[in-house]
Order: sequence, then C-alpha cells, then structure tokens
Amino acid sequence: MKPINVGLLGIGTVGGGTFTVLQRNCDEITRRAGRPIRITVVADKNLELAKQVTGGACRLTDDAFSVVNDPEVDVVIELIGGYGVAKQLVMQAIANGKHVVTANKALLATNGNEIFQAAQDKGVMIGFEAAVAGGIPIIKAVREGLTANRIEWVAGIINGTTNFILSEMRDKGLPFDTVLKEAQRLGYAEADPTFDIEGVDAAHKITLLASLAFGIPVQFEKAYIEGISKLDAVDIKYAEQLGYRIKLLGIARRTPEGIELRVHPTLIPAKRLIANVEGAMNAVLVQADAVGATLYYGKGAGAEPTASAVIADLVDITRMHTADPENRVPHLAFQPDAMIELPILSMDDVISSYYLRLRVADKTGVLADITRILADEQISIDAVIQKEPSDGEIQADLILLTHQTREKCINAAIVKIEALGVVAGHVTKLRMEELGK
Ligand code: HSE
Repeated sequence: MKPINVGLLGIGTVGGGTFTVLQRNCDEITRRAGRPIRITVVADKNLELAKQVTGGACRLTDDAFSVVNDPEVDVVIELIGGYGVAKQLVMQAIANGKHVVTANKALLATNGNEIFQAAQDKGVMIGFEAAVAGGIPIIKAVREGLTANRIEWVAGIINGTTNFILSEMRDKGLPFDTVLKEAQRLGYAEADPTFDIEGVDAAHKITLLASLAFGIPVQFEKAYIEGISKLDAVDIKYAEQLGYRIKLLGIARRTPEGIELRVHPTLIPAKRLIANVEGAMNAVLVQADAVGATLYYGKGAGAEPTASAVIADLVDITRMHTADPENRVPHLAFQPDAMIELPILSMDDVISSYYLRLRVADKTGVLADITRILADEQISIDAVIQKEPSDGEIQADLILLTHQTREKCINAAIVKIEALGVVAGHVTKLRMEELGK
C-alpha cells in the first residue's frame, strides 16, 4: 500500500528518537497503521547531524519551509520548538493542507486556539500527544478514554526536571542550586532551565490538559505560575516530618465559580501514589465522576519515550486521514462548536489548605496572637508544631497546617501575622492538596 510521507522538522533528541523508533519498529507500526509511514525529508540547520542520524535514508535540507511547501509531504512533524519560526511553519503546513504532529507545548498553550481553528477550517489534524508528559498517552486518555465522564480535576507532575530536583533535595538533603546543575548535566532541563524551574513548562502542559478536560479555550495567560526556585530545603524536611511530600503540581479544577488553573509547589500526603513519583518521572491524576480517580505514570521526556507519542499521533493520522473531518476526534476532546467559556479563577478565589512556616520568639502568648488572627479570618487550624529552638537561639520555627480556606483570607492573615513584633521576617506559605475524593 502507498506509504504516508512525512517531513520531519528538527532532528535533535526527539527527532532522532522518532527516526530510530520508526525504523526499528517499522513492521509492527505498519501492521497497526495499515500502510507504511515513511520519513521522506528531514530539515535541520545541522546537516551533518541529520546525515549521521538518518544514515542517508532520506532527503535532507536546511530549509524547513521547503518541507512544509513540498507537495509530496502528507504530514509535517514540528520538533523545532518555540513560538517564532515554529508557528510560521505550522501555519504554513496547515494552509498547504498538511497534517501536523508537534511536541511544542509552548506554541499550543499560547497560540493553540488560532492553530486548532486553522486546522479545523482546512480539515487537517494536529497531533500533540508528545506535548504533555512525553511518552504517557495522557492526551489520548483524557480526549478519548474518559469521554463518558464529567472530569472534576486534573493534577499532574508534568515537569521531570523539577521532580528530579525535588526528589534529590529530599533524598540527599542537597540545596536547590547543586541539584539543578546535576539535572542540566543529565540533560533533563530545557535549554533555558527557567521554563522548567519557574513552572512555565508545567503551566503550558496543564493549560492544554484543562482545555481537554473541560472543553474550554486554551488560556495560558490566565494560569497562575509559581516554580520551585525559592523553595527552601527546610520546608521539604518539615513536610516530610508531617507526612507530606512537596511536588510541583499542575492543577486544573472545575468549581461552581469557574476553573482553577495553577502551577505551584504543593504538599501532598506521602501515602498517595502520586506523592511517590520520584526522579524525572511524570504522573497525571484525573478525578472524574464515573470512573473515579485514574493515574497515568511514565517518562515525561527523552528521545524514545517522546518519539513513542509522536509516532502514536502519526499512526492515528494515517488511520484517520481519509475520514471526513467531522468524523475525526476533535482536537480538544469537545466538538469545536461545543467549547464553552468558563472563567479562570484568580488565585484570590482559589480554595486550598495551607502550610505556614514562621520564625517566632519563643515566649508566652505568641501562639495565642497568631491563632486569633487566623480565627478572625475564619481559618481553621488543622495542626500546629513548634520546633525546639536550636542551642543558643531564642526564636523557634512554628509550622501551622490549616483546613481549607480561600487564598485571599490566608493572605490577609499573613499580612497581620507578619506585622506582629514577635514574628521575624516573612511567613512561608505553601499550598496543600489532599488529592483524594
Ligand atoms: N523539560 C521537560 C521536563 C521535558 O523537564 O519535563 C519536556 O517537556
């Protein structure tokens, strides 16, 4: 049967993995797809590298636009990244009636509405399984496996670099900077690690998952983003003593008032399976009304795990590309004319439990002053621990865990607590999620 012809843009880590896996598993993939999938042309600035990886098995060019304009190419794989030339190439490929597979979460989280609309208008498909949690088929699961359900929330460890850093900090008691260097040496971090450690990469991914889960437009600009660069190792230690692990979570939750869309370090009970996802692994927990909780775990990055997702999209496109566009699976799980605008809540209106750490003078009445402030804000305390002051010190660490409250109430209480003369410096605030029903 006539092969489907693929043009590959970018033969770095994931592009190389895609080439290798397609070649190695060629027979098995063809049996599934119904016809061979053949990379006929690769575009990369580094032609020497492209030659090494492909071994002369296909045409090479340093002009990516020649690939998206090539009438012989049926599907374009975009693995260049970023929002600049990658966007031009994707839009040009769509305009030329080509299907697109991309791992570019940044592009889709910021420009997805325009890209999906253009694809819809042209009757082409955009596969983006590789954009969220690498090799874990989470997009397929949310878009197709859970279609019976009303999804309540999604919470994911969707950045391997930060999960590696947090795991190492907890396990080895090492400071953030030391572990970040190790993560870069191992190749986990993006070229600019800021996107990883400041939560931007995770926010791109949870933005896409929120759209798939709730049928809302992509709204990255409304996501709340807080990374791990300011996380103090002492809080990882205290959290552990209290029975919690700290993870960088992407959270998307449906509430009666709107959608919570947020990324931040989060205390999770250590007994939860997701709290035990360590190293660079990813996991996504989805709570839905019929099925209950389902957990998806695997490698969120790397050459072959991400290639696995890219090729799964190629197979889907190969199977579906002769189907009428209206009979295909919608890009964001819901039919385009059935998407709804739900408000994304500001952090002030998010409801969570909190971990507070403060440094206080070890003397009578301090705790009473603090608990009074919390009571005035209608905040109920779940647990209080005061650490013994170290030898020769007159101040002690006080840790408070609260029951659920609105973020604006905890912020108001913190302002008043920090104004107390007996409290030194700032209060450290971390959010806590039970992640149970
Ligand atoms: N840099 C990402 C991570 C991998 O650390 O998970 C690609 O999304």
